[in-house]
Order: sequence, then structure tokens, then C-alpha cells
Amino acid sequence: MTQYKRLETTFLGVKFENPVMLSSSPVSNTGEMVGRSFDAGFGGVVFKTIGAGKEKIIHPGPRMAGYNYHNHRLVGLQNVEQISDRPMKDNLDDLAYLKKNWPTKIIVSSIMGFTKQEWRDLAKASEDVGADMLELNFSCPHMTVEGSGMKVSHAQALVGEFTAEVKNTVKIPVLAKLTPNITDITETAKFAKDGGADGFTAINTVQALSGIGLDDYIPRPNVAGKGAMSGYSGPAVKPIGLRCIAQLAQAPHLGLPLSGCGGIENWIDAIEYLLVGSGTLQITTGVIHYGYRIIEDILEGMDLYLEERGIDHLADLVGKAVPNIVPTDQFDLTSQGVAEYDQDRCVGCGQCYIVCQDAAGQCLTWDDANRRPVMHEDTCLGCMICSFVCPVSDPPMIKYRVVPGKSEILPPVSR
Ligand SMILES: Cc1cc2nc3c(=O)[nH]c(=O)nc-3n(C[C@H](O)[C@H](O)[C@H](O)COP(=O)(O)O)c2cc1C
Repeated sequence: MTQYKRLETTFLGVKFENPVMLSSSPVSNTGEMVGRSFDAGFGGVVFKTIGAGKEKIIHPGPRMAGYNYHNHRLVGLQNVEQISDRPMKDNLDDLAYLKKNWPTKIIVSSIMGFTKQEWRDLAKASEDVGADMLELNFSCPHMTVEGSGMKVSHAQALVGEFTAEVKNTVKIPVLAKLTPNITDITETAKFAKDGGADGFTAINTVQALSGIGLDDYIPRPNVAGKGAMSGYSGPAVKPIGLRCIAQLAQAPHLGLPLSGCGGIENWIDAIEYLLVGSGTLQITTGVIHYGYRIIEDILEGMDLYLEERGIDHLADLVGKAVPNIVPTDQFDLTSQGVAEYDQDRCVGCGQCYIVCQDAAGQCLTWDDANRRPVMHEDTCLGCMICSFVCPVSDPPMIKYRVVPGKSEILPPVSR
């Protein structure tokens, strides 16, 4: 298997061959499965969340529904899966098996207790079988057991209490996995930090309703006639995941390492998560869509990206976009521009004209004889929606051009 020197990294004091892990979910459900993912190239695993086994876990059936947009399948994934339904001992045996047979891969045990004692027991048992790290699941949005998952995050103080229980029990590093289903993710993170967390994972799934049957009125997945507001993942949630990681990276009172998750399917997604502050990365839905083999392209793409830019260590990239993310009142409003058209490449479809008429500044007129838009720069808003609908997009036929002094001739705002 190809080794990528540039992708080696250290996270929470633990050395990773590469920063990409399976996230906790069905893709990391058994030792046999995870072993195959390691052979494919994943640098580590966050194993499917383990419970103490006192509450019987029964997964609803069916437990997932794909969300398609036109011809694009699995743009999102809705699920009502619970934590692992396997006996705790089987899961712990699998962690030990993985550490023994793939000693250079990183094993993170994801745990969820329902009492303080259970959090302690799960933490200790995971450490004893060789887990390199723990991830505390405070974030599943659809647990059937009362007071667990995301509800812990909503109770806030419990996040600190459970984290402290775990930290007082083990020596290995502890990640708190946070929910995006909260007004301010940095508040939950602060409770975890005060409890002693060493870092954060974000995001767990976004609480959503991704589809309702038009004939049966039942949300998907349809579980014997009912649906639920439950966890949504995949490419559709990547913007939310990036936002959460960036918020955690920017919060001055936090300052802890981050593991990014949510919609990563290719090397570009991976690099974006690094740029907003993730030190490691986690994937589920991408694997549900394509299998463990997606790791090959992700690693190769990340490595090439670094090589082309002369960056020897992946860690040098982490957080590089963070200073560029500002509140909108810090924008330079004196910089204004227009859409610039490369008419030679225009196919004359007229979509730019329609959207400019109906959704922008009516700065285009239409030359019927030549089937071309005619730009009147003085009324162009520079909003660029014409470029979003233009089919000639690779490279874009319509580009943004800054016009010095344009802000001075903009019409006054009237309300
Ligand atoms: C079917 C399914 C089951 C999941 N189970 C767990 C779980 O047991 N523990 C956990 O922390 N996250 C769980 N997750 C959330 C994922 O680990 C991940 O945070 C989320 O799906 C976003 O990443 P993605 O877009 O790459 O899937 C689950 C996700 C899915 C789709």
C-alpha cells in the first residue's frame, strides 16, 4: 500500500499514518469490516458507538433512507440507527483484535453511557483493550433511550459531568462528539472542555426530515407507518459541518484540536475540512455510497495537493482558512464588481438573461439576431447568479471582475 509521508500527522499526541478515519456508524460496526478498511488505506477508525449493554438496543426497520436530487443519488442520507446492538464484549474483543493486527492504525472507541457508572465502565474497558482514544457520543439526534445522545448536549451541564467522569477514569485522550442541532456549538464545547475534553469531533448528523411520502404521508424512512425527525448526513450537510468546525476553531475560549466530519467524499472535501481547522477527518456516508475504496483517491488527491504547493506536512495546512472567515460587517464594501462574459464561448441558451431579469438587476438585454446576452455594466449588481446557471462552467464563461470606483456610483439604498 502507498505510504504518504506528507499525510502523517499527530493528533492529541497520537501518531496517525494519515488523518482519515471511518466515523462511528455501520461502516465501523465490526472488527472484520474495519480491518478491510485499514487494508484499503484508512488511517484509523472511530468504532460504532458502544453501550454498556444494560438497555436492549433494537434498530428500527428500515433504518435509513437515501435522499436523491434529480439524478444525483445519496446527496443526503436519513437514518434512525441506534448505537451498537452487539454485546459489549464482542465490540471490545474487536477493538483488541484491531489493535493487535493493525498496530499502526488508530483505534478510537466511541462510547455512550446512560449513567455516570456506565460512562466510567465503558471508558475503562476501552482503554484496557488497547483503544488509543475515546470519543464521547453526546450527539445522536434520535436515540430511543431517554436522556442519551443529543439530549445530553441539550442538558449542557451533563456534557461536563460525563466528560469529567471519563477523564478521571482513563489516561488516553478524549474527544467529545458534538451535535450541530444547537444554537451555538461552542457553548456545548465549553462544557466539554471544562470537564477535561482533549478535543472535539463535529459534526454528528443534522436533525432533519428529508422526505415525506406523497401517497402515505409518512416521513422517510417509513418505520411501520411512522417516521421521525432524525439524523441526516452526507454531501448535503458538508456546509454545516464546515461551519461548525470553523466556529470551534475560532472560539477564543476553546483552542482544542478538532476532528472534522460531515459530507466528506473526496480529497477536496478533505482539504476544506483541514483548512477550517480539522486535524483529523472522519467519513461515513461517502463509504455507504462508494465503499472503503474511496480512501485511495482521497489520500492520493490530498498528497498531490500538498506536493503541488510545496507543503511537506499536512499539519501546516490546518486552519489556514480560519483568519479569512469574518463577520459580514468586516467585509470591504468599497470593493465592487461586475459579471464579465467571454462571448466567444457563449452557447446562446439565454439562461443568464432570464435569471438577470427575474432575480437580479436587469442588466442584460437579449440580442435576438445573434442569440447573445448584451451586458450593461452600469446596472450589473455583480451578484453572479448568471454564472450559477450558465452551462459553460468548466472553466467558467462568466467571471467576476472588480471595477475600481464602482462603489461610488452604486445607486443609494432606498427603503
Ligand atoms: C446510519 C448511521 C449511523 C450512525 N451511527 C453513529 C453512531 O453510532 N455514533 C456516532 O457517533 N455517530 C453515528 N453516526 C454519525 C456519523 O458518524 C457521522 O457523524 C455523520 O454521519 C456525518 O458524517 P458523514 O456525512 O460522513 O456521514 C451515524 C451515521 C449514520 C448515517
